Amino acid sequence: MSEQLALLGGNRAVTHGQPRFVWPILTDATDRAVLRQMRDTISIYDRSGVFARFEDAWSARHKRSRSLLTNSGTSALHSVYVGADLKRGDQVIAPAYTFHATVSPLFQAGAVPVLADCDATGNIDCDHVEALIGSRTRAVVVTHMWGVPADMPRLSSICARHGLMLFEDCSHAHGATYGGNPVGGKDSTAAAWSLQGQKIITGGEGGILSTDDDRLYHRATLFGHYNKRCVKEIPRDSDLQRFAVTGMGLKLRAHPLAIAMAEEQLGHLDGWLREKRRFARIMSERFGKLRGLRAPVVPEGCDPAWYAFVLQYQPEELDGLPVERFHAALLAEGAVEADLPGSTCPLSWFPLYQEPHQLFPDAVPEQPCYKRGQFPTAERFSSNAIKLPVWVNPEDGEVVEQYIAAFEKVVGGYKQLL
Ligand SMILES: Cc1ncc(COP(=O)(O)O)c(C=O)c1O
Repeated sequence: MSEQLALLGGNRAVTHGQPRFVWPILTDATDRAVLRQMRDTISIYDRSGVFARFEDAWSARHKRSRSLLTNSGTSALHSVYVGADLKRGDQVIAPAYTFHATVSPLFQAGAVPVLADCDATGNIDCDHVEALIGSRTRAVVVTHMWGVPADMPRLSSICARHGLMLFEDCSHAHGATYGGNPVGGKDSTAAAWSLQGQKIITGGEGGILSTDDDRLYHRATLFGHYNKRCVKEIPRDSDLQRFAVTGMGLKLRAHPLAIAMAEEQLGHLDGWLREKRRFARIMSERFGKLRGLRAPVVPEGCDPAWYAFVLQYQPEELDGLPVERFHAALLAEGAVEADLPGSTCPLSWFPLYQEPHQLFPDAVPEQPCYKRGQFPTAERFSSNAIKLPVWVNPEDGEVVEQYIAAFEKVVGGYKQLL
């Protein structure tokens, strides 16, 4: 006999019942860093102070020659696309399964997003990427979904063979590595990260891009950082210098207080990753044994950042029990941090991707209009995703055990829910 589920009146498996994953971790050191910055300056016009320190540290960590802070990850991605000088009608192959902001700024840049399905890892399917390459393709963009690195060696070799640029959205993957190399490093043309409030390194809001391509960097600077920063940084003999005072008309600068906070956090990144990886190992091993669930697929040689731990629910192994009912039972057990991610879903489900010409009447006629059902692997991955945080405090080992117990209990008693 299975134990009575909490949803049906039994005792809860998770006893504390409150969210234990509170992000970001704010300490007295964070307060001091932000206050120090507030007394120093709250508006930075050029690449100095905390901006220079953070960008230099970021470039060094990712073995890049240049980094550029922005006010959001969306702005960083937009800056990469404008920096790369994508022309109207240029096609960019992009993941169908990602947070939409990886891809949506392409519409603003006049480029054409061409979506590719994902594979069992949730990342872009390299075979589908290759099949989509055509005469108008100029670039590929990938997201390291939930912190698991995409197949960068294969993607960079495909892009090199076809003369394409490769961009990375590393917003879930601060500190992730493949073959010992950091994501966002040497294998792409440029990479962007969000520093938004839930991200592993955060300033509340903010973003950053890194590249070794000077032209891309200068164009990206001109796109969102007019006057002093452009005047000082764009070389005198560049054809872009004469636009330095106005830039391209937008201002996408980061806030210094946000970056002071992110700078303090950066010092903790390796320690957090160590703890996350330790917990993720336990979670993978234990969840992987449960009927009806698959632990995240991590390719050989990859060390994810574990922004989240995304299980794949297998309803056919539990007599077709809908994921929503399974999830409701988990919540009732007190596993309140188990989430069905809603807004991160196949982009083909969104009106923007189904009817792009409604919002962008000037989009080229070749812009695809997507519909549900076009990306079967992404649809299945998204519909069956159950997301858990990966805790970082060593004392959260007990929470991990209780969450595993909650899943074991619901799997063991699933027949009560049918
Ligand atoms: C994968 C991914 N890309 C881009 C973004 C956009 O970043 P921001 O919210 O900083 O604009 C996010 C934010 O959630 C994200 O998860």
